[in-house]
Amino acid sequence: MSHYIIRGGNRLAGTLAIHGAKNSALPILAAAAVCGDSVIHNCPRLTDISVAMEILRHLGCKARREGDAIVTTRASGGNCRIPDELMGAMRSSIVFLGGMIARHGCAELTLPGGCELGARPIDLHLGALSQMGASITESGGRLLCSAPEGLHGARIDLSFPSVGATENTLIAAATARGKTVLTGAAREPEILDLIDFLRGCGANIAVELDGTILVEGVERLEGTEHRVIPDRVAAGTYLCAAAMTGGELLIREVVPGHLSSCLAVLTRAGCRIGCGPDWVRLAAPPRLEGMGTVKTMPYPGFPTDMQSVMMAAAATARGTTVFVENIFESRYRHVPELRKLGAGIVVEGRAAVVTGTERLTGAPMACTDLRGGAAVVLGALAAQGESVVTGLEHIDRGYDDLEGNLSRLGADIKRSG
Ligand code: UD1
Repeated sequence: MSHYIIRGGNRLAGTLAIHGAKNSALPILAAAAVCGDSVIHNCPRLTDISVAMEILRHLGCKARREGDAIVTTRASGGNCRIPDELMGAMRSSIVFLGGMIARHGCAELTLPGGCELGARPIDLHLGALSQMGASITESGGRLLCSAPEGLHGARIDLSFPSVGATENTLIAAATARGKTVLTGAAREPEILDLIDFLRGCGANIAVELDGTILVEGVERLEGTEHRVIPDRVAAGTYLCAAAMTGGELLIREVVPGHLSSCLAVLTRAGCRIGCGPDWVRLAAPPRLEGMGTVKTMPYPGFPTDMQSVMMAAAATARGTTVFVENIFESRYRHVPELRKLGAGIVVEGRAAVVTGTERLTGAPMACTDLRGGAAVVLGALAAQGESVVTGLEHIDRGYDDLEGNLSRLGADIKRSG
């Protein structure tokens, strides 16, 4: 079984270019299933991206990699069923649903897999697609969807700004008959990136100042060439790694504005931060300060995807940090792992109280999920002595060459097995 051997305690310093955003590339690939031939640049090399390419092929598209780009062709033939193993491989496979119903008039799939973060219902996705004319039945963990007469525009109000439900609605609405008015939509940068891609393909989408999204369906979407935005979570992960090892890091090819909430917390922790148009520089103090209260919120609030890695950093700080997880009900599975290093973390409901300790000590640990796994790796980097980290299949879903990048910054980390 593949694992990392990490000897912690090294200060991380240097420069790093950040790869494209997984959470943008995936919905864009899902949208490509209803568009013409496209070239999507800056697609990271991740297992989730390979799964998405495999799903595209089942839906009748060709999808191949050319350097950092994925080249897709307009779907021809294909079927309206995603095999169970691909659905089980990642939760984001659900963002293919809207496009499948739009193009084929039908879709059959099992409920999605992915990181286990407590209950992750898809009622908002299904509600929106039903309002657009899809008939959806669920039995024995399978979804059967059909819209023999095609989808039509609708007024949809999301009761929570779900990222995936917003994406599914946008992709479905792009070619639906008539106008869709979407309120309560998510505003994450990855949503705007998807909208940019769809517009490049000829979709008629406007975002109003209050966040309402208007989509006037078009008959047919063409292809486009698009560059995926930088991965703000990968960027934040490397910043935390440098911050908790007293390091100094320049990250390039990022959008600093997308990192604002994370940079604010790192500033509170005592880091000095400078930004340019597409770079961020961080210089960490010898030891971080407690960060106060960090509450995860929809964008532009502090991202739930950064909660675990920031917690690893907080575990080394002088003082206390309280995390409140407002997005997912069970996103603290990394806590027992971090405790193995000697981290002082107590979870109570949605809150986790972290009492920083000067010295973490290496231990055997397992990645529990994608971002929780990154937190475990960061903890090991800051700990004295050796840690063995298993469960790297989680890391490979979301970080392109994590060990290579960390090694280049001075970490002692090796993949073995
Ligand atoms: C996306 C991101 C994920 C990130 C999350 C929140 C991708 C591929 N994944 O996931 O990395 O952690 O946004 O920023 O972009 N919910 C419902 N009903 C629904 C849909 C969601 O109740 O139909 C709830 C979820 O259970 C969760 C919350 O809404 O508690 C947020 O989910 P959502 O924004 O949909 O996350 P994802 O799109 O799955």
